[in-house]
Amino acid sequence: MTAVSKRMSELGTENAFVVLNEVKRLQAQGHEILNFCIGQPDFCTPAHICESAKAAIDSCKHGYTPSNGIPALRTAAARMFSDTRHIDIAPDDVVIGCGGKPFIWYSIFALTDPNQGDEVIYPNPGFPIYQSMIRGLGAVPVPIYLRESNHLNFSIDDLTAAITPKTKLLILNSPHNPTGSVMSRKAMEAVAEVCIDHDIWVLADEVYSRIVFDAPFCSIASVPGMMERTIMLDCASKTYSMTGWRIGYAANRLLAPFFTRLITNSDSCAPIVSQEAVVTAITSDQKTSDEMVAIFKRRRDLFMEGFRSIPGLTCHSPGGAIYVWPNVTEACRITGCNDSDEFRKRLLMESGVACLADIHFGPRVPGEGQHLRFSCASSSMEIGRGLEKIDAFVRKHM
Ligand SMILES: Cc1ncc(COP(=O)(O)O)c(C=O)c1O
Repeated sequence: MTAVSKRMSELGTENAFVVLNEVKRLQAQGHEILNFCIGQPDFCTPAHICESAKAAIDSCKHGYTPSNGIPALRTAAARMFSDTRHIDIAPDDVVIGCGGKPFIWYSIFALTDPNQGDEVIYPNPGFPIYQSMIRGLGAVPVPIYLRESNHLNFSIDDLTAAITPKTKLLILNSPHNPTGSVMSRKAMEAVAEVCIDHDIWVLADEVYSRIVFDAPFCSIASVPGMMERTIMLDCASKTYSMTGWRIGYAANRLLAPFFTRLITNSDSCAPIVSQEAVVTAITSDQKTSDEMVAIFKRRRDLFMEGFRSIPGLTCHSPGGAIYVWPNVTEACRITGCNDSDEFRKRLLMESGVACLADIHFGPRVPGEGQHLRFSCASSSMEIGRGLEKIDAFVRKHM
């Protein structure tokens, strides 16, 4: 009577929340902690978006919506996908969900059968929910390693080696969490060729599509022959600083009806007030969103400049997203830490600087050393103080 399913024990979690609880506990005890763990923009949702939510409430928009979302938002998202990916997406190809995350679940659910050995390839390091959901749904997770020698992307050789007759789906994430790496059009074309050759679906997790700094964003869906086999996934969470509003949008003509059925069976629909607000977010001037991106870029530059002068740290400059991913292998040696997680813990306890370790994003990649993830969702002043403290922590042991 009291047993839970085996499947439940297969489901993982985001270990970042464990670290966040540790940080909260220390803060509650009166410790001053500079927190670089959080993967959400630190801005209020822009006022004009909030106003449209208030107007929706006042005009009695309080009920269920169609499971695939209100037509105005599907139309707005279809236009946004078409304009930014340079392809032709119709409103009926788009489904609105409660954030970006559920579509990871829906895609694996729709494309694999449980306990049949169906395989899903995903990036490691990567968003921890990929591996968790693949396992939880009874499919087989197959990691492909991201390497510094390949600008924190995977190689085509590694991708090809990971493919078997059981491969159903490849998860791509560019701009990438946690490394901030961005795939070029050329890299996308090479991946596309492999996916077409082996008849593999792609889940293109593009939730950071608008947060790019050095080169334009490119979607694999825009490579000829890929649109039909690609699920494009984007959301309002990061672009408009709306993580708590829970609105995501996915586009694929074939799968849209199946995603809709999954929503009818689970959430019924995404919250109507949030949907109305995101129509405004997508269709109005993108100035406030562009300003946030400019701030993230300045913070990225600040981190990169600071890391250059800290002994034992090296870092690839992230081309997008809201994270930096320094290699701390040498800093671990200098400070006598066995690995990145010990370094992270000591940095927290001895210097009051909180960040995440590589192991929070999958097992360490053999031969790649030790890494940490710092979020850029803190003010420039906090980043400056954090860098000083990291520098002092390392130099104390020299
Ligand atoms: C790579 C990636 N995909 C998906 C999500 C989920 O986005 P949402 O908060 O809209 O569910 C996140 C959130 O951090 C993410 O980093």
